[in-house]
Amino acid sequence: MTLDAFPRVSLCVLPTPLVRASRLEAALGPASPRVWIKRDDLTGLALGGNKARKLEYLVAGAQGEDATVLITEGAVQSNHARMTAAAANAAGLRAALVLDAANGDAVAGNLLLDHLLGADVHIVPNPGDRPAKMTQVAENLRKRGERPYVVPTGGSVPLGALGYVAAVRELMVQLAALGESPVALYHATGSMGTQAGLVVGARVFAAPFEVRGISVSHPAGAKPAVGAALASDTAALMGLDDSFAESDVLVDGGYVGTAYGHLTPGCTEAINLLARTEGIFLDPVYSGKAMAGLIDHIRIGRVQPGDSVVFLHTGGAPAIFAHGPALLA
Ligand SMILES: Cc1ncc(COP(=O)(O)O)c(C=O)c1O
Repeated sequence: MTLDAFPRVSLCVLPTPLVRASRLEAALGPASPRVWIKRDDLTGLALGGNKARKLEYLVAGAQGEDATVLITEGAVQSNHARMTAAAANAAGLRAALVLDAANGDAVAGNLLLDHLLGADVHIVPNPGDRPAKMTQVAENLRKRGERPYVVPTGGSVPLGALGYVAAVRELMVQLAALGESPVALYHATGSMGTQAGLVVGARVFAAPFEVRGISVSHPAGAKPAVGAALASDTAALMGLDDSFAESDVLVDGGYVGTAYGHLTPGCTEAINLLARTEGIFLDPVYSGKAMAGLIDHIRIGRVQPGDSVVFLHTGGAPAIFAHGPALLA
């Protein structure tokens, strides 16, 4: 089945811009490659971010099953949860969110937006408590005559990953117009749906670049296997006779720091540098760590001056407002 044959609800403003970060390049000095930023923080749905592309296919899936409510889960500052609630509203559905308070439960940032969006928010103490709560919330909804549709963690299922297969097609058109042939695309990788879609898209559309995921959570070592399985399943959903191995899914686990959601010095540096050179906000959980990875790869020579790279900005800025002055370098 070709990409365009899948039902899709329009939630994003596409194409997102691809912009040259020349002031960042100047700040990084002569070692810097040309850096292009793919602004998926500007996808347009409820303050933007990568999940909007996945949700275009997932909401269509929910509508196909005649669902009335989307249920999903994440951390209290989950961008995915905020965007799922917004997508539900835009599609005339309701949203129930199961969020864990392992990193705090202040009603700020994404959690504040979840409430503004009118989502039915359920807070549990730890990530491990989420599955049971999801089941309980779904059961209660069914008893009330609702038809819940579960959007798995991060929207990272083959249907959601299609959003990033399509994103590669979009990016290839932009790169061709610029005459650019980047060696690598960097992005924050968590539940692996974004990376799986990118890896499939890179193969299908013969992209010149390697997809390099910078992990935002431990254990990073398990991610290539998860990503390869998801990429293979995404290709199968598209009817492609293609499979992916762990070696096709490049994940660098060196920039997580102590844990998911915990700031690192590199992340703080990246957030401040992008704001001060380009006027672009990164976030403390995802895109800041991914940019910290790219900056370090430039400094240690993993990419060369004269090359070009793409940084996929996956969004996440609402979490800035849950952190406060700790973010200032
Ligand atoms: C801002 C941001 N960037 C990157 C990611 C990682 O995407 P994925 O879960 O598809 O790996 C997420 C996931 O929540 C996110 O919110």
